[in-house]
Amino acid sequence: MSSAVVIPAAGLGLRLGGETPKAFREVGGDSLLVHAVRGLMAATAADLVCFVVAVPPGSEETVGKELEPYVGDARLLVVAGGAERHDSVRTALDVVPVDGIDCILVHDAARAFVPAAAIERVVAAVRAGAEAVVPVVPVTDTIKRVGPDGEVVDTPDRSTLVAVQTPQGFAPDVLRRAHAAGADAGVTDDAMMCERLGVTVRTVEGSPDAFKVTRPQDLLLAEALLAERQR
Ligand code: CTP
Ligand code: MG
Repeated sequence: MSSAVVIPAAGLGLRLGGETPKAFREVGGDSLLVHAVRGLMAATAADLVCFVVAVPPGSEETVGKELEPYVGDARLLVVAGGAERHDSVRTALDVVPVDGIDCILVHDAARAFVPAAAIERVVAAVRAGAEAVVPVVPVTDTIKRVGPDGEVVDTPDRSTLVAVQTPQGFAPDVLRRAHAAGADAGVTDDAMMCERLGVTVRTVEGSPDAFKVTRPQDLLLAEALLAERQR
């Protein structure tokens, strides 16, 4: 049983702001990307054969050198990402070896602190036969649908809603088919592309620690989480 990991890390981090692309922003002296790679290795090292990272064009070589010490015996490939997240995933997926891999994980560099247990739940569900798996957490805000002018249309029952994290896990042929079918601007994750093919997407328990560093205050949370883990 062998897995491959695809890490989209090519975003600019416009909501976070700052001079550096988000994946290269540091917390506790290491980039978010290094934290993410270390977390994945800790959970899956035993059967991880290939790491593909999509980075901002031009930074492939630097990132390759930076990550090499962290990937153990796994093969590391660094590719230039695309304009949208799904373009970056697609470009990375194109270089994942086809033979001998039974699980592909797609993980946002920005979810740098996902605990090993959450990753293991995703992998276990794929190994148990699920074609697509997402880690989820309950929604804590009340969510409303709004119309074009911002007026409330309705309030979905919160008990049926979840927030979706990464890594998302896939049977390789399913993920390849989903990306081959293409994506439009409204696509925000890989599971959604599978849903459009009629694939059943399973959920497993995610973790509050797998939050996505998106806005400046998320960096403060990341610093605090890391300090707590190092105590
Ligand atoms: N990503 C990517 N290629 C893109 C856009 C996003 O690889 N063209 C990656 C990001 O690097 C991140 C993940 O997808 O690890 C989730 O995206 P998001 O949190 O939206 O990151 P950014 O797009 O960088 O941030 P923003 O939307 O605020 O600009
Ligand atoms: Mg984005």
